Amino acid sequence: MKSLVRQFALDEIEGLGYFRDVVWAESVDSTNKQLAQSVRQDSIALPALLVADEQTTGVGRGINQWWSNSGCLMFSMAIPVGDPEQSSCISSDLLPLRVGFAVAECLAGFSVAKPLVKWPNDVYIVGRKVCGVLIEVIPRPLAQTAIAIIGIGINCRVDFRNAPIDIQTNATSLHTCVKKASVESVSTESVLVAFIHRWLELQQRQREDPKWLLKCWPKCSLLDGHWIEVKHSAGISQGRCLGINGSGAILIQNEQLEVVEVLAGTVRSYRLLQS
Ligand code: BTN
Repeated sequence: MKSLVRQFALDEIEGLGYFRDVVWAESVDSTNKQLAQSVRQDSIALPALLVADEQTTGVGRGINQWWSNSGCLMFSMAIPVGDPEQSSCISSDLLPLRVGFAVAECLAGFSVAKPLVKWPNDVYIVGRKVCGVLIEVIPRPLAQTAIAIIGIGINCRVDFRNAPIDIQTNATSLHTCVKKASVESVSTESVLVAFIHRWLELQQRQREDPKWLLKCWPKCSLLDGHWIEVKHSAGISQGRCLGINGSGAILIQNEQLEVVEVLAGTVRSYRLLQS
């Protein structure tokens, strides 16, 4: 049986009238995989939200897996991507960055330290990863919009003692970043509800001003001004991060002072530059 807290959270989300299918499952292999399968089988009303208490084979970016324990909020949204003026459709412009920004803004409502986005969409608090995002796009036959599966894992109240050593070293949980008196306010339900509210507000902002994220990015970026190393399809680029361009590509100024633009890649390391 669902707890009252969970029922209230689901009622609030359903009351927003955005999702046409909302499920909170006990255990799935991966919320991304499950939703992608339902979309391919055309067996689900969109937009859809799937949340799970446990994932047996959570997927990360690239070849990574997503390690999780109880207290991790894991969910995926399946949303048509296309003309944002069409109801329930979202713009594809800078989508990964917009998702990271929405999580950072949501977590800022809980954390005493500022959450920052590590390009393109991981969220960090005090130098440690608190959230990972995996976006997959499912094309559909002509005249139908593509569907984005937006998978988000947020460490809300996670105990990392049994985690692999690299996760113990590099990850953090939101409950350790709030004022002591507010620890009880951090639950998977409260963070999910806060995120969905923020997400909807930011879709509205996107419709009103498609350039808003480019203006906000420098304030929420973990990497701007830092030395970074980025792996991408053409190799590895290193240098000072100058921010992003209008397409969301990260800008890296190398030792020859040339600026390299990387649209898709992984930031392998970063460190503060002496100014
Ligand atoms: C990463 O940091 O590499 C991305 C991690 C994404 C994890 C989330 S948890 C919910 C959703 N389902 C998955 O299998 N993965 C994403």
